[in-house]
Order: sequence, then structure tokens, then C-alpha cells
Amino acid sequence: MDIKTLADFCAKVGIAFPTAEIYGGFSGFYDWGPVGVEIKNNVKRVWWRTFVHQMDEIVGIDGSIVTHPDVWKASGHVEHFHDVVTRCKKCGRAYRADKLVLEVLGINVEGKPAEEIDTIIRKNNVRCPSCGGELGPVEYFNLMFETKVGPYGGVTSYLRPETAQLIFVNFPRVYLLARKRMPFGIAQMGKAYRNEISPRNFLFRLREFEQMEIEFFFDPKDDACPYYNEVKGKKVLGLTAEMQERGEKERPMRIADLVPEMPGREWMIFWIAKSVDFFVSVGVDPKRIRVREQLPDERAHYSMGTWDVEFRFDDLGWQEIEGIAHRGTYDLSRHQEFSGKSFEAVRPDGSKFIPMVIEPSWGVERTILAMLYSAYRKDEKRTYLRIHPQVAPYVVAVFPLVSKDGLPEIAREIYKEIRTEFRAFYDEKGNIGKRYRRQDEIGTPFCITVDYQTREDETVTIRDRDTMQQERVHKDEVVAWIREHVKNWRV
Ligand code: GAP
Repeated sequence: MDIKTLADFCAKVGIAFPTAEIYGGFSGFYDWGPVGVEIKNNVKRVWWRTFVHQMDEIVGIDGSIVTHPDVWKASGHVEHFHDVVTRCKKCGRAYRADKLVLEVLGINVEGKPAEEIDTIIRKNNVRCPSCGGELGPVEYFNLMFETKVGPYGGVTSYLRPETAQLIFVNFPRVYLLARKRMPFGIAQMGKAYRNEISPRNFLFRLREFEQMEIEFFFDPKDDACPYYNEVKGKKVLGLTAEMQERGEKERPMRIADLVPEMPGREWMIFWIAKSVDFFVSVGVDPKRIRVREQLPDERAHYSMGTWDVEFRFDDLGWQEIEGIAHRGTYDLSRHQEFSGKSFEAVRPDGSKFIPMVIEPSWGVERTILAMLYSAYRKDEKRTYLRIHPQVAPYVVAVFPLVSKDGLPEIAREIYKEIRTEFRAFYDEKGNIGKRYRRQDEIGTPFCITVDYQTREDETVTIRDRDTMQQERVHKDEVVAWIREHVKNWRV
């Protein structure tokens, strides 16, 4: 499937569509419809439950989006958070220079200096793909959105390009609130903004998007992970930096063999395993997932090592959906230096240290994109989303077979009871076949129909979205039936 098919489908059924369509859209910005907003909230809820509510080591925060400008000086974003850009001298179109070189020449120059990319463009006479014009010099372009805070010009600040920095700046206070435990993690989810040069591929590269991030702090002198035995044997499709340098492809391997000796190695392996498990738990096809170690040139300025969880799209190939970076002590040290405040933690023996940090960073939109891509099914009869009940917009739809003869009254009673526990949808209009198809399209796993037999023996039919099989269940047992089937649902 190509990404455009999925984008058209999502617009049609109310998942996501370009913002302000009546004015022609606005590149890199999307709005979420009635179905999409449910899916998005569900994904975020499952993530929060998995990592905050079910991990004793982790607490959550919610930081501000417009952030003190010094944060971004200390973090290195003012200096380093840029892409390389070139503009056509004839038609004025701007291109991300490294992506252009990859597309036109097949050479990966990600992370190379602007001058080097410029030389490659000139030597190979790469021209504007749109009009054939000559390309201007390759320059750096900072991706942060600036904003003015206060009247009369005020202070120049930035919309956060990652949620992570709000975690780092709050570390001293939250560490105290968490009663100085170590290791411990702080989680946050919310909007991030990047003035991407070429936003594209539907929800994949946006200018406004959401992240779900954890900064997991540990003492490099006491870095054993108590869950290591549970994860060390787990296998994934893996690709190390060395394998890439030898021109090899990904192959099934133990996660433990992906990560070399480094402080916090066991935790890094744990976070890779937990990350892959999370994607699978929300319905991302495990056969399309691989974990790739970034090459040294690709790494962000703060990274001692980064592993990307990637998803294989038929038309776009392998693409990053999550980055898991070892940020060492970079961020806490920088904020200590720039703010003059202490970012140290204390060991039981009283000695002090700056914690190291491992950061798993998921994009909400890319998670949903991979999930929908995995769930989309089309055959001669219908299009449906084979989506996991825990993230489906509705778990159940309830219909009376016809809107007369007392059937709507019974159906409404059942619907009211179900919706106290599950997200439910009620519909009594139109042909029953069409009502089923509509629910299939948005991924509702179960449809309950009240028919004439219900009046006689109080049973209803429950239809399974994937098999389209129906079974009769007594109306008083419907809630227990749903509970059981949601619990046992497997991707
Ligand atoms: N704090 C680390 C950080 O922000 P990143 O690799 O730049 O690292 C993490 O971003 C994740 O955020 C990515 O794996 C991706 O899922 C998501 N993301 C980044 N830029 C994005 C964009 N322009 N549009 C949509 N999602 C994006």
C-alpha cells in the first residue's frame, strides 16, 4: 500500500485531514477528526498506563510549550538543531539538501557538513527536481519556531522542538519529589514543533506533532537493570552500525547483541525491548519492525549512541518511528553550567554525581501511522481496520435491526449499560449491512444487534469485525462477553 491511499482513507472516515482545507491546507499541519481523536487519545492512554502507571520507577510531568529561551541555548538547540537547505535559484523551491542527495544520487549524507553536501551537489550537477534550475548554496537552517512573548516585541522565545528539555530543567525538583530514588524516570507527552523544510508523507513529517518521551536517569556506577533477565534473550530484526558499514542487511538477532559495552547497557537493552513490545501491543505488525543503530554521523549533538525503531512502509522503505538515545550526562551538565543550579544526585554513601540518561522518544503520529498501516485491510467486499480493541475508536457499536417495534428502546438500554465501561456507538439509521460496513471501516471490533428474537428470548447478536461471524448472547451477559474478548484479543 502507498501512504497516499492511507491518507485518503483517513480523511474519508474522519481520522485525520489537512488543516484548514477550505483555504487549501497548510503544509505540515493536520487536524484530527471524530474517529482520529479517539484513536489518538487511546494510544496516549495506553502509553501512559504502560510506562507511568505500571512502572514504579517512573513519574509524569506536563511542561510548557513556549519555553524560557535560555533552555534552548543550554540544550544546544540554538547552535545545533538545524537541517541543511538549498533553494532553487529559478523557481525558489527549498529542499532539504541531504534528502535531495539521497533521492537523486542514492548517497546517504545525513549529518555531513553543509560544505561537503554542497560539493557533492555541484560535482554531480544536481538540479532542482521541480524546474531543472540551478540550486543555491547549501546552508544551515534552524528548525525551531520563534515566537515573541509580551508586548512591544518582548522576548524572543521558541516553541519546544522536543518535550525532553522540560524534563531536564525540572530534574532537580522532581528528583526531590521522587524522594531521591535512582534509577528513576520522568515521562511526558505533548506537542512539539519543528519548522521542517519539507514536511511530507501524511503524518510522517509534520511541523506540529506530539511526542511521548521518557528520560530515564541512572547512576553509571550502579547501572544494573533488575529486569535484564526478562529481556536479554528477546529477538528482533536488528541492524548494528558495524553491519551497515559492511553493507549487510537486518537479520533476526538478540536485542542484547545490538548494544555494545557502555554505561547503562542493560537499561538500553531493556528500553529497546519495552519499546518494541509497546508497538506490538497497540497493533503494529512485528514483521515490519526493525531496530537499527544510528551511524556516528547521524547522531544528534547530545548522543553517545542511538537506536531507532523503524517501520517498513511498502513505498517509503524503513523509516524511524521512535529514537532511543543515550544522552549521557550532556543535558543535565549543560543546565547545571548555564543555570548555576545543582543537577547532582546523591548516592547512599553521600557521594554526588550527575546521572546519565537514556531517552526513549516516540512520535504519537508515527506510532498511529504504523498502527493504521498494519491494520488496513481491503477486499472485494469491504475495507476494514483490524485495529486492537484497546486503541479502536469504539469497542462496540449497538444497533436495533429496524427503528420500530420497540427494538430501539431495548437497544438503547443495552447501549447505555455498555458505555459505562466501554467506548460505544449507537446507530439506528439505514440498512444494517451499511451500518456494519461503516463500523468495519473505523475499526469497531464488535457490533451488537437487537432483533425480533431479542423480544422473545432476550438474546442479541454479537458480530466480530474480522471474521464477520455472529453469535447470540443473552443481553445480561453482553458486558462480561466484551470484557473477556477484549482481554483475549491478540494482534
Ligand atoms: N528528544 C529526542 C527527540 O526529539 P527525535 O528523533 O528528533 O528525538 C523523536 O524525535 C521522535 O519524534 C521520532 O522518532 C518521531 O517519531 C517523532 N518526530 C520527530 N520529528 C517529527 C516530525 N517532524 N513529524 C512527526 N514526528 C516526528
